[in-house]
Amino acid sequence: MTVRIAVLASGRGSNLKALIDHFSKLGEHAPAAIELVASNRPGAPALDRARAAGIAAESFNAGDDGSALIEILERHAIDLVVLAGYMKHIPAPVISRWNNRMINVHPGLLPEFGGAGMYGARVHTAVIERKAPATGVTVHLVDEEFDHGPIVAQWKIPVLPGESAESLAERVLEVEHIVYPRAVEMVATLIGRKIFANL
Ligand code: GRF
Repeated sequence: MTVRIAVLASGRGSNLKALIDHFSKLGEHAPAAIELVASNRPGAPALDRARAAGIAAESFNAGDDGSALIEILERHAIDLVVLAGYMKHIPAPVISRWNNRMINVHPGLLPEFGGAGMYGARVHTAVIERKAPATGVTVHLVDEEFDHGPIVAQWKIPVLPGESAESLAERVLEVEHIVYPRAVEMVATLIGRKIFANL
């Protein structure tokens, strides 16, 4: 079974690009295919990236109870939902429909530096301000709390002396692009074999 992936993205889509490149390199050995990229923002650069790669790209109304998102995910028969810089809260009916089959990447070492309002540059600024010795990348299953579900992969990155939030952001993103596609490949392989995590 080739697992059908939807990537949800709100912004530039650099993780989306890393995912597209990774699954394209895997070729016939890929356990999954990216069938859809969806965004709450019709102008998101991630949608252009998807179209350029020949992947269906759609925007939807994220302000409702989740029914618009459920409709497109069902229409594309999506097995695994991959969040890649998706900036909206996922409504509970969507989370329960794709329970254990929705995954996110966070640019920090969860459970530290996560939760509502802790995203993007804010994470790196908080890490520097608190003088944390390390930050990292965390990949986790999605549950109803922000940045909270079971962790499936994590990579620790030391904070260098005198480092700025900007340079930290760059180094963390580089690691995301290596870790996330491989974590998604692992989760897709398990789902393809019907070995589900149990939240
Ligand atoms: C990444 O840092 C990711 O960890 C976070 O949002 C950012 C998205 O960046 N969830 P991009 O759109 O993939 O470039």
